[in-house]
Amino acid sequence: MKEVFRITGGEALEGRVEVRGAKNAVLPMLAASLLTEEPVTVCDCPDITDVADMVEVLRALGAEVVCERGNITVKGVPRLTEIPPHLACAMRSSVFMLGALTAQCGEVRLFTPGGCRIGARPLDIHLDGLERMGAKTEYDENGVRCFADKLHGADIIMRYPSVGATENLVMAAVKAEGRTRLIGAAREPEIVSLVRLLRRMGADISGEGTPVISVTGVKELDGAVARPVPDRIVAGTVMAAVAVCGGRVELVGADPSVMGAVISPFLGAHTFLVEHGGRIVFESDGMLDATDVRTGPYPLFPTDMQAPFMACQCYAAGMSTMCETVFEDRFAHIAQLRKMGARIAVVGSTAFVDGSEGMRGARLEAADLRGGAGLAVAALGAEGESVLSGVRFIDRGYESMEKLFSSLGAKITRERVPE
Ligand code: EPZ
Repeated sequence: MKEVFRITGGEALEGRVEVRGAKNAVLPMLAASLLTEEPVTVCDCPDITDVADMVEVLRALGAEVVCERGNITVKGVPRLTEIPPHLACAMRSSVFMLGALTAQCGEVRLFTPGGCRIGARPLDIHLDGLERMGAKTEYDENGVRCFADKLHGADIIMRYPSVGATENLVMAAVKAEGRTRLIGAAREPEIVSLVRLLRRMGADISGEGTPVISVTGVKELDGAVARPVPDRIVAGTVMAAVAVCGGRVELVGADPSVMGAVISPFLGAHTFLVEHGGRIVFESDGMLDATDVRTGPYPLFPTDMQAPFMACQCYAAGMSTMCETVFEDRFAHIAQLRKMGARIAVVGSTAFVDGSEGMRGARLEAADLRGGAGLAVAALGAEGESVLSGVRFIDRGYESMEKLFSSLGAKITRERVPE
């Protein structure tokens, strides 16, 4: 048996959504808990499988983990330094243990990280930085191994602002001897959340959110409590659904200050948006303007919004373009959108989307987390019924997507069907 979403499109969406903590902040924050045996609590964690997998990995490493109404407390230091293969393959996020485990235990063995199939996703930037801090690394088809008796500070020039590498190197540097500077670091809000937690734990860090992050190693870290930035990708995905279906949604708990690039392509003659405090109210009449969008590292339009927003472009009159500059193979959803009648041509890393024709329901297959979210958005606006499989990918980053959208009036159910 497998789980699918059965979606009948065409319903306008109306209501309010509580935006929870960002998956891509919670995961590195949980990894940071390995850097102290004192209790570390990450608040407002979403109930998604990537977080559940991370909790399993922490427990498998020997930490004590208590989950209570979205607040996750981790206590103790890892006894194991090898992430169980069945878990490490479950998600890419196990990569975020690399820096913390090397710093805390002096060695780590990580089987080839799993997660979405959206490109090669090498680890050279992670490993180059760790080697410059004194680690020895090996990386082959079975995975990566990292050893270091003692890490020391270093100036590390990052050839690309890799989010995960920035997070790993910050976590490796917080207890290293001396000062580390990451030059060309990623600036994502999720990294700012991680640094805020580390600082509360006693780390000496500055420059988060800028291209140069400076860390001076300290002897020990304490426990702390911190809340992650709200999930800008979940908020953006809900906006995409309202843009496609028409309607009005209130995003409670969203943080407009980190959503500039997410919001801007939605603004046009047929939409209306008000933001104040921790709320965004977004309205759309479902008649979208064609747009030209290009993904990039923060503060540019996030690659994780590429598929959900391309679903909107399929409904926008005229020719839109979507240029994916971050991952080299993140267009798997296009073949599925074409089954619905989408007219999309791909030239290199740019998709040309002609939204002049209508979209109709089809049998769809998600191949990755955000591609699956994009297909769900497209199906919500299509004529007739769609059956979307690969729901397990969507569950990695969205809490009960079917409940989220049906609470806004969509016709979407989760069903178990034979393989
Ligand atoms: C993080 O992945 C996110 N995952 C991704 O979200 C997100 O798409 C990505 O950052 C970009 O914003 C988490 O935070 C758990 P990168 P990460 O290292 O760290 C290349 C989702 O849907 N690269 O910034 O793996 C890499 O191949 C997920 O929530 C190297 O070449 O992304 C890619 O082309 C998907 N060598 C580019 O950099 C390296 O050593 C960006 O990757 C590292 C990365």
